Amino acid sequence: MIPVNKPFLPKKEEYISLLNGIWERVWLTNSGPLVEELESQLMTYLKVEHLKIVSSGTVALQIAIKALDLKGEILTTPFSYVATTSSIVWQGCEPIFVDIDSKTLNMNPELIERSITPHTSAILATHVFGNPCDIDAILQIAEDHKLKVIFDAAHCFGSEYRGKALYNYGDISTASFHATKIYQTVEGGALITSDPEIAYRIGLIRNFGHDGPLKFNGVGINGKNSEMHAAMGLCNLKYIDQILSRRKKQCSLYDQLFEDFKAEKQQTLPGAKINHSYYPLIFENEDELLEIQAELVKEEIYTRRYFYPSLSSLNYVKKQRTPVSDDIVTRILCLPLYHDLKEHEQDKIASVMKRTQSKSYFA
Ligand SMILES: Cc1ncc(COP(=O)(O)O)c(C=O)c1O
Repeated sequence: MIPVNKPFLPKKEEYISLLNGIWERVWLTNSGPLVEELESQLMTYLKVEHLKIVSSGTVALQIAIKALDLKGEILTTPFSYVATTSSIVWQGCEPIFVDIDSKTLNMNPELIERSITPHTSAILATHVFGNPCDIDAILQIAEDHKLKVIFDAAHCFGSEYRGKALYNYGDISTASFHATKIYQTVEGGALITSDPEIAYRIGLIRNFGHDGPLKFNGVGINGKNSEMHAAMGLCNLKYIDQILSRRKKQCSLYDQLFEDFKAEKQQTLPGAKINHSYYPLIFENEDELLEIQAELVKEEIYTRRYFYPSLSSLNYVKKQRTPVSDDIVTRILCLPLYHDLKEHEQDKIASVMKRTQSKSYFA
């Protein structure tokens, strides 16, 4: 069986040795030493100014919207995971969808300005599959219209833009460290910002609004993460360079194997360095995608329609036209990709796909 994803796990003894410390201290959560150590190591590794660990990428998005005190309409992408939109609605704001560029699969900056109204407070854009958005264009529009910018950087550990970690851009970037992500802490996430005032507010909000043991400052939530999660994160951080370089090799093998295969790939903009966390292919039509997916299942190879559906079709948002996203979601498939995926398994995946395509095209 070849799953679509398999979390990277460190050596069990390394994790257990950190657990032993937790047992000795009997300190499980509430800004424990391992959470603090992981924040510090992540800030050093990523070269970012402020990073606050939280319990998930979804909670990171919700806290980001709250920390920036956003109200009214938020411009966002219809091509992302549901958490990007649901966080906006959860915070009592209205998602206004800006369609995507069919090549980069990110929000199309040329369509942003026509969606701005007096009620718009921010842009929340996803760097899809770790591929940087048109950051310069988005930041310029935001500056011209006095809007805040949140980048949903859930997929972006190891991605860079103009030589800096992708998390450095926008008022806040949010990360997910979920088990399926390239860098994982089982469940988890983070908010990254270069503004100390915003970082301070994030710190309050993730801890019930506590400003000291006996004082509260504003509405908060429990967004903390535990020592057990931080222990996993500390172990995995030691392997991250190895993980990133293996992913790159695996993706270039897929590139070679699919050289003569009819499918489009996501494109990147100049200045982007991607982390190869996913390998999506865009087929000519949905029928072909479904046929290939079914043939792979017969061989116990599992792929994922990611993202599906277009978020503009959710039953709790106002109907909006996003034809590019609506089309892409019907044709995009992510192939198996994880640290110990073997070359011969990639060969097998490609050969089943090529066989299916050649049969359906030339029979
Ligand atoms: C783009 C995007 N944003 C947000 C999330 C939510 O992250 P989490 O699962 O850590 O809550 C995900 C999760 O897959 C995602 O893909």
